[in-house]
Amino acid sequence: MESYIKSADFFRGNDPEEIAKTYGTPLYVYNESIIRKHMKAVAEVITKYPYTANYSVKANTNIHILKMALEEGVNCDAMSIGEIRMLEAAGFPKERIFYVPNNVSEEEMQEAIDRGIMTSCDSLEQLEQYGRLNRGGKCAVRINPGVGAGHHEKVITAGKKTKFGIAEEDIDTIFDICAQYDLTIAGINQHIGSLFMDPEPYLKAVANLLRIARRFPNLEFVDFGGGYGIPYHKLNDEAEYPMEDFKARLVPILDEFVADYGSAPLFKSEPGRYCVAEGSVILGRVHAVKQNAGKKYAGTDIGMNVLVRPSMYDSWHDIEILRDGEVVSRDELQEITVTGNICESGDLLAKDRMLPEIKRGDLACVLDTGAYGYSMCSPYNSRPRPAEVLVCEDGSLKLIRRRETIEDLMAYM
Ligand SMILES: Cc1ncc(COP(=O)(O)O)c(C=O)c1O
Repeated sequence: MESYIKSADFFRGNDPEEIAKTYGTPLYVYNESIIRKHMKAVAEVITKYPYTANYSVKANTNIHILKMALEEGVNCDAMSIGEIRMLEAAGFPKERIFYVPNNVSEEEMQEAIDRGIMTSCDSLEQLEQYGRLNRGGKCAVRINPGVGAGHHEKVITAGKKTKFGIAEEDIDTIFDICAQYDLTIAGINQHIGSLFMDPEPYLKAVANLLRIARRFPNLEFVDFGGGYGIPYHKLNDEAEYPMEDFKARLVPILDEFVADYGSAPLFKSEPGRYCVAEGSVILGRVHAVKQNAGKKYAGTDIGMNVLVRPSMYDSWHDIEILRDGEVVSRDELQEITVTGNICESGDLLAKDRMLPEIKRGDLACVLDTGAYGYSMCSPYNSRPRPAEVLVCEDGSLKLIRRRETIEDLMAYM
């Protein structure tokens, strides 16, 4: 693909240079239509049985995006009281929030219980804590199915090497704790990891969780987790996650379970990235181009504080170069390393990347930044967090989060 922002008409006719000048850089720019399209897709992963998609809001908690989920009929997963509060502020009723925390204090768990929010317990001790706080109550347990999947060790969230979930061999102890505190297990959930393009490991994990589910009587729901990938190498024509094929292959697995179990509980999934990643780019200004020991560097204002994924997970984000609002052609490429403005040698956005010639004053447009982008921003180096702008479906622009200021940073002291 020559240009994603052109082929998706990402800015809906707005001039990205004007957007950058109006709102400043670095800037997260979202496209409402693309986000809604993805939310609609996850809402239809299962149609034969009762099902809800739970958008995993850790990917992006901007309240305007949460409202899109609300409107598209997508429920949500929260990992903290902060995320629960964001969801409540967006208008989500308690029934549409599932709390999937790990290692939380009694106070935090109590707050979720007081708010009437279904909570998943991530360990035997957390289940006991739940029992002490809410004797006679109803909760879920997160199962560690023993196998994980993902694009990086740091995002594999099941299997022998992770902190998450309760192992299958501890299921009898789950029932002991439930008996002790008169608890009902309403649901079981898992999340094997993040960003896979091949549905096979997820399908196996679904079948495996359903095998485990047979040990739990009268489940109200079974939650298979998230992790569906998006093509981060789209400029090199990487294919999309094969959603239709995945959906078709899921049905017989569910059929077999429902026939055995005698009824269909509510099935759930927990996609985060798939909902929002492709619906955002970051616009950043190139402030300096230089040679160091024969290597070319383009220095931008998109530091690791603005987008941490490349530094944290060695993640790839395609970059398009814009000059005077136009995409610079990729016909002639040269090797260059694109960096941010943070005082860290690991502050690299793209290492030894083949890109068109970059000049001072150009805009770097980093693709697929809607998931784990702003939500992982930090004010490191005392650089305020960027602003977020939405390109609405009608093409108008809306500031959906103002830029943080240095005064904001000082306000806590
Ligand atoms: C428990 C849980 N559910 C869902 C998700 C969403 O994953 P993804 O954004 O890959 O779909 C995550 C992310 O790591 C998670 O930890």
